[in-house]
Amino acid sequence: MDATLGLGGHSEVLLALDPEASVLGLDVDAEALEIARSRLSKFGGRFTSIKERYMNLATALESLNRQAPDGILADLGVSSLQLDRTERGFSFQRSGPLDMRMDASGGETALGLIRHSSEDELARILKEYGEERLARPIARRLKDACKSGLLTDTLSCAKIIASVYGARRSAMSRIDPATRTFQALRMAVNHESENLDRFLAEAPLLLAKGGRLVCISFHSLEDRKVKESFRALSRGCVCPSDFPKCVCGRTGEFKMLTKKPVTPDEGEMSRNPRSRSAKMRILEKI
Ligand SMILES: C[S@@+](CC[C@H](N)C(=O)[O-])C[C@H]1O[C@@H](n2cnc3c(N)ncnc32)[C@H](O)[C@@H]1O
Repeated sequence: MDATLGLGGHSEVLLALDPEASVLGLDVDAEALEIARSRLSKFGGRFTSIKERYMNLATALESLNRQAPDGILADLGVSSLQLDRTERGFSFQRSGPLDMRMDASGGETALGLIRHSSEDELARILKEYGEERLARPIARRLKDACKSGLLTDTLSCAKIIASVYGARRSAMSRIDPATRTFQALRMAVNHESENLDRFLAEAPLLLAKGGRLVCISFHSLEDRKVKESFRALSRGCVCPSDFPKCVCGRTGEFKMLTKKPVTPDEGEMSRNPRSRSAKMRILEKI
């Protein structure tokens, strides 16, 4: 299962490497699904796809009458397509609507979220999902700009954030000051944290024996969730060490294959700069 099909790059490699393999791909982005479907049509019936959220893996498997998968891959975050299409509003480098919905067929846009959230709520989102140190003044400035009609697009949003940083910019942030706020808004708009929690609770249980769950994350919040969840699942007995015998009965149904995350090497980073913050972790069902 490719839980985050995107443009189908990973699925294509999986299908090409193993002529026996079949892949079920999930995504919420209709535009990406269309591109992936046409790209992978050469594999005929070995590739199937469905527009579904990855937290609903079990439902997707059931509806297609599929058995337990040998592998589940989640390549988290935003796709190149989403970043490159200015009209989707994910990029702060060019002007686009403040949208950021991965599933453009419904739900609240980033502008809607800023408009309807209180200043407190917005500051909490920027702090929690973006680890933004200037969450409170940025939230205040965004709310003011929204009320006075000055928050018109992604570029005006980025400029407002940069103005909050002002002279502090070079001392406080080596990355563009809009990076953390845009990440936080995107995560909130797409309920990414809640989706990932449910995915991590459900996906390991669906695997076939010997099957592997592979997660690639792009920022520390996601990687922390993956790491903690894999650690908890691969822990065997959790009885205190002074107990004479095990009473918890946990045998450790999973093994973590990556003590440390796998990261891209120099070559991969220069071929694909967007891979630079990627961290991959693998869990195996024993
Ligand atoms: C980093 S991209 C994946 C790129 C893909 N591996 C490829 O080779 O093209 C992440 C994809 O996950 C999708 N996505 C995000 N949240 C999702 C969710 N809750 N359920 C399913 N897909 C989701 C996004 O729409 C995006 O296309």
